[in-house]
Amino acid sequence: MPAMDMKALKRQAGEYAAGFIESGMVIGLGTGSTAIFATHHIARRLRSGDLRDIVAVPTSLATEAAAIELGIPLTSLAEHARIDITIDGADEVDPDFNVIKGGGGAHLREKIVAQVTERLVIVVDDSKLSEQLGTTWAVPVEVIPFSWESQAAYLRSLGAAPVLRLAGEGAFQTDQGNIILDCNFGPIAEPAALARLLESRAGIVEHGLFIGMARDVVVAGRGGLRHLRKS
Ligand code: A5P
Repeated sequence: MPAMDMKALKRQAGEYAAGFIESGMVIGLGTGSTAIFATHHIARRLRSGDLRDIVAVPTSLATEAAAIELGIPLTSLAEHARIDITIDGADEVDPDFNVIKGGGGAHLREKIVAQVTERLVIVVDDSKLSEQLGTTWAVPVEVIPFSWESQAAYLRSLGAAPVLRLAGEGAFQTDQGNIILDCNFGPIAEPAALARLLESRAGIVEHGLFIGMARDVVVAGRGGLRHLRKS
């Protein structure tokens, strides 16, 4: 699909989901090229007066910078322990609304925000839909730089082919100063079990499997927009 068409689909999904936000809410602002359309639309709604009295927790330094530039009032989880709604993108989405995130390396902060969110809305174009997680995307695993090779060996023992994510000449650095191993597991039969194995290893800070967290998925495709809801 041409890049322009893809961008238009991402815009549709992001802007539609921004319509779920109501005045007075505490919101989470996701990260990535789809979620940013929601952030821009929220800013437009604030400017027009359609939306009032919201405060937002950004899920990355990049989103924080965008929100400040757009004039969206920010807060933190220290001030607001619960979030009403978060709109975020994803890299792969299965029929049970389990997702892989972290293509932009922000999955740690995204998960911290998601786990205190009442309603996590995932916004994607339809190329992200998949019957089984791992079919189209590797699982990003954030590890601390100290002895990261030991975590790579552990990930290989679980069946992955970990690849150190690069940026320019060196390793990609997350907002926390950690590095990312992109782990191709192939189609993952039991994502929840894999998530537990990843969580049991010292040195692994967070992985990109978001199991049972999303309540809504907004999918934009050539045939139109679909709003899928957890029953
Ligand atoms: C950021 O680390 C990610 O979790 C993004 O939300 C995800 O990669 C989707 O990004 P795009 O909307 O840019 O595809």
